[in-house]
Amino acid sequence: MNFELTLAKVEEIKADLEVIFVCENDFSHRFVKDKELLEKSGFKASQDEVSLLIEKDRVYVGIKNLEGKHIRRASAQAISTIKNIKSYKSIKVASYTNKGCTYGIRAMVEGFVLGSYSFDRYKSTKSKNSIKKIFISTDDYSNASIDITNASIQLHKGQIIASSTNLTRDIVNTTPDDCYPKVMAKIAKDIAKESNLECNILKVKDLKKEDMNALLAVARASRHKPRVIHLAHKPKKPLCKISIIGKGLTYDSGGLSLKPADFMVTMKSDKSGGSAVLGILQAVSQLNLPIEVHGFIGAVENMIGGDAYKPDDVLKAKNGKTIEVRNTDAEGRLVLADVLCYAQEQLKADYIFDLATLTGACVVGVGHYTSGVMGNNQQLKDMVAREAKFSGELATTLDFNDYLEKTLESKIADISNISNTRYGGAITAGMFLNNFIDEHHKERWAHIDIAGPAFVEHNWGENPAGASGAGVRMMVKLIEKLSLKAKHD
Ligand code: BES
Ligand code: ZN
Ligand code: ZN
Repeated sequence: MNFELTLAKVEEIKADLEVIFVCENDFSHRFVKDKELLEKSGFKASQDEVSLLIEKDRVYVGIKNLEGKHIRRASAQAISTIKNIKSYKSIKVASYTNKGCTYGIRAMVEGFVLGSYSFDRYKSTKSKNSIKKIFISTDDYSNASIDITNASIQLHKGQIIASSTNLTRDIVNTTPDDCYPKVMAKIAKDIAKESNLECNILKVKDLKKEDMNALLAVARASRHKPRVIHLAHKPKKPLCKISIIGKGLTYDSGGLSLKPADFMVTMKSDKSGGSAVLGILQAVSQLNLPIEVHGFIGAVENMIGGDAYKPDDVLKAKNGKTIEVRNTDAEGRLVLADVLCYAQEQLKADYIFDLATLTGACVVGVGHYTSGVMGNNQQLKDMVAREAKFSGELATTLDFNDYLEKTLESKIADISNISNTRYGGAITAGMFLNNFIDEHHKERWAHIDIAGPAFVEHNWGENPAGASGAGVRMMVKLIEKLSLKAKHD
């Protein structure tokens, strides 16, 4: 899809179809040319409601107001309605900004790219997006004057961020037999080559050398050998350094603490954190952000077999701490423990984040659409949640506490891999990870549990059923924010 920003009024642009957004109760707006028809059809312009007037070559979509998140959803809705209509190859749309703020252009472009996504790798008939060209006029819904230079920067950013989100969706949606650790490493190498990133892959002998015994134990029963992937975006004179660690469980059967059948389906999505790291690194490099960003992925498959690690095992993580395994399905934290240690040893970062589909408890606690943000630094957690929301994702903070920390105590090792209470599982998992964060990084770290939004089996907002690419937009927005902050500090 090709975008063109133009000063021409929408009427002056030649395109196959016009997309028009309507605020509830604003049917008299000059952009609404079919008021009577719309009213006759019962169109109320509620958020995401669509009315396609084929005979007029216009599609109307309702929006709540001009906030970016509503515009993004509406443009996603518009394109998913029309993308399979072969006679429409080009569309035109006006600007919908909040008082001329060009972030609205970015949100709209993101919506178009995210809404055009479909995953049909395993379908015999492939769906093809017929829309090749999208014209965006700077003629604005609220008559604000739009700075075309800023607008075109935002357009470009929107395209990059949404395409990287779609890349992450593709990786997550790919089945465990087609996407295992070695394949993830190959994808990382390809992205590195295309986007000029540094790339280092650690194989089993390297992981042994690095003492990543917890990760190796989780990986042991799988015929697919584990990989730790390190990608780096290194601009000249970076404003600061950020590490992002991703849980890349290409399949989580639960191991010997086997998941019940109904819970195992969708566990190909347990690589969502790692897949997000791949998308983030691609975006950060294409956006040329003046920040050094390192991505670390623990790519592992958690399986059963004679060689499997067991409940009762005691593992020694890379930092020397011993872990009593009481449940092999709490494997993500074991993998992350070692990868977090490795990442902190590789560089002293100004900020360190991890993205993981870590707990079902997080989904129970905050629902399918929201990520849980944890850590030791309230300001940093708040910033992550705020930037996530600006980016179009949902996130909320969850607090650690001393009482839950006690529930991780082990009688025979330094710590247990599960808590002794059924409740507060998202927080206890986060507190487990905290044991593998060193003093330098304590206040610089945030853990983001994306188990809810990473993979949802129905469509929601600008997200299709299946993988959403959770984490990509959130982190890129956060990195942009941190680069502004570093500039002013
Ligand atoms: N990958 C799962 C968490 C998960 C659950 C992600 C649902 C996405 C959707 C994780 O490895 C896991 O199994 N966690 C256990 C932890 C428990 C054994 C303490 C869980 O959440 O039940
Ligand atoms: Zn598990
Ligand atoms: Zn898992």
